[in-house]
Amino acid sequence: MEVSPILLVPDFNAHILNSVEIETYLDEQRARVDAALKARMPAEDTRPDVIHKAMCYSVFNGGKRLRPILCLAAAEAAGAAGDAALMPGLAIELLHTYTLVHDDLPCMDDDDLRRGQPTSHVVFGQANAVLAGDALQTLAFEWAAEQPAPGPYAPGAFVTELAQAAGSQGVVGGQVEDLAAEGTRPSAETLYYIHKHKTALLFRAATRMGAIAAGAGEKALAELDEYGLNIGLAFQIADDVLNATSTAAVIGKPAGSDAEREKLTCVAVHGLDRSREMAAQFVQTATQVLKAGDCAAEPLLNLADYIIQRTH
Ligand code: IPE
Ligand code: IPE
Ligand code: MG
Ligand code: MG
Repeated sequence: MEVSPILLVPDFNAHILNSVEIETYLDEQRARVDAALKARMPAEDTRPDVIHKAMCYSVFNGGKRLRPILCLAAAEAAGAAGDAALMPGLAIELLHTYTLVHDDLPCMDDDDLRRGQPTSHVVFGQANAVLAGDALQTLAFEWAAEQPAPGPYAPGAFVTELAQAAGSQGVVGGQVEDLAAEGTRPSAETLYYIHKHKTALLFRAATRMGAIAAGAGEKALAELDEYGLNIGLAFQIADDVLNATSTAAVIGKPAGSDAEREKLTCVAVHGLDRSREMAAQFVQTATQVLKAGDCAAEPLLNLADYIIQRTH
């Protein structure tokens, strides 16, 4: 995968990203996540096979695995050894996958391409796509509950974190306002609400769950919380910029569709140049928080830069 500095605003970015290093790191971590998912997903031929085929189709069709990778990296930065954050990370990836399946439905963004392939409802029909999303979400919570959180956290802390990020005051709330805002007057306040809720809170849950898996203290948890929120905000701005500037062949999903559907995106509210600056500023805030604290691990700093330099 090529990393180009299309979104980078040099003035804002003190950390120089080594693209070979980050690509190698991402490949290794992605392989780790993929192997764990392969070992745990129900087999495609489990009855009723159509739903398990649909679930596996969306889990194994080329996601970047950024949320579990961030969960693992946050855990390591907070001192965890081994696979302490693997199950929570996998749970977030399943939750994320369900949100994509539903986001693409005709009643939502009505997109027929995802990760370069036909979307779930195109392949399996709308009812099965809705049900596959439901089942992925349910399985996400089963996995989040599999491992009790270490002290000082409550044993069910992973489940609570995931539920709060995903529910009506999390991703669902963000998706509701995202859809309601189509065709409305640009509003920076509404845009921030949408970006924070539909995307950034799940990134924050990933880094918080990593910290919790490590048994992190209050200070490290707060740092990783703020880092996750800020890179999540940067990530969604980058997604808006790519939709406006790239092609379907490169991003693997429809390009130009936000403008067609009159989505309330960062590009629609602030324009392209300001969007790029804002994304870089959120990344700078995220990395400064780490550098001023105890969790300034190289992978997290590199991941923050990658979030806005990625091409898809
Ligand atoms: C896409 O997220 C949805 C948004 C929040 C913009 P990703 O770009 O992380 O999706 P995959 O899993 O890598 O396809
Ligand atoms: C991203 O929504 C957030 C969720 C899917 C919950 P978008 O609609 O902006 O993401 P893409 O561009 O379809 O991946
Ligand atoms: Mg959407
Ligand atoms: Mg969409």
